[in-house]
Amino acid sequence: IEVDPFVAGLPKCELHLHIEGTLEPELKLALAARNGIELPYADQAAVRDAYAFDSLPSFLTQYYEGMSVLVTEQDFYDLAAAYAAKAHSQNVRYAEIFFDPQAHTARGVSFDTVIRGLTRALDDARRATGFRGHLILCFLRDFQAEFAMATLVQALPYKEWIVGVGLDSDEKGNPPVKFAAVFARARAEGFRLTMHCDIDQENTTEHIRQALDVIGVERIDHGTNALEDPQLVEDILGRGIGLTTCPISNGVVTAGMKATEIKRLFDLGVKVTVNSDDPAYFPGYVAENLAALRAELGLTDADLIQLQRNAIDISWAPPAVKDLLL
Ligand code: ADE
Ligand code: ZN
Repeated sequence: IEVDPFVAGLPKCELHLHIEGTLEPELKLALAARNGIELPYADQAAVRDAYAFDSLPSFLTQYYEGMSVLVTEQDFYDLAAAYAAKAHSQNVRYAEIFFDPQAHTARGVSFDTVIRGLTRALDDARRATGFRGHLILCFLRDFQAEFAMATLVQALPYKEWIVGVGLDSDEKGNPPVKFAAVFARARAEGFRLTMHCDIDQENTTEHIRQALDVIGVERIDHGTNALEDPQLVEDILGRGIGLTTCPISNGVVTAGMKATEIKRLFDLGVKVTVNSDDPAYFPGYVAENLAALRAELGLTDADLIQLQRNAIDISWAPPAVKDLLL
């Protein structure tokens, strides 16, 4: 994907990015070597060749396997530092970054190790380049709600580093209501709320309805299937709910980028944003996502500016930072 000069130079804000999904093959191999972990890949090309997914579950298998090389605080530091450098190179000024602590604590890496590495890298990047990154704790919906609740309690001492909570992983059979108590507690603790309603999932409109009415989210990650139900679109518009869409990711796990759906919602006035999701796996960071969407739809410069305004608007940055970004 060719990134044109306007997209390249545009100041950007990204709200849907999984830090574990930024683990590039090069760093994956380096961390495996550093930690004495054997991977069945001879080189970066072999790692990439294994990325043959055509659905959310087949992607998730590679995603969880890949992150097994993340063990020490320094590993998490290096992961976030690499993303922050890449983001800065694309003129991303601000990002809200998902992390999946349960994917690490479930294999014996402590919550403390994960969050200390990530936040130290983001603090250093902020000082070095001005790039601001904040964390969103994502619960894994294919684990039990009790594990999510225990993880939320684990996160409480680190509240100042975590702006909100989300919900990701395999959506099939794992509706929002499964986590109603977890999200109610998170809200009471002062966390902002979002969750994935992934593209073309089973019972997708029902899941979006639950996210809005039972959970009371402020944003939905993906969520373009709302178009299947006019009442959902009306409620999303009326309540000012933001959508964090991910065109290149959509194109990998479904038959297309959902570009026309994204544009329809955007034209209706929904606070649509464009993001990269898991850029090491769905090839393209946020600039490539914007460029791909622009190429598909013929977006104008003004459209691209509006997408960034939407992102600042629905971000959870404090008002003073929003002013700085605008
Ligand atoms: N985990 C990482 N990326 C994800 C996505 N796009 N959907 C669901 N779970 C994820
Ligand atoms: Zn995602």
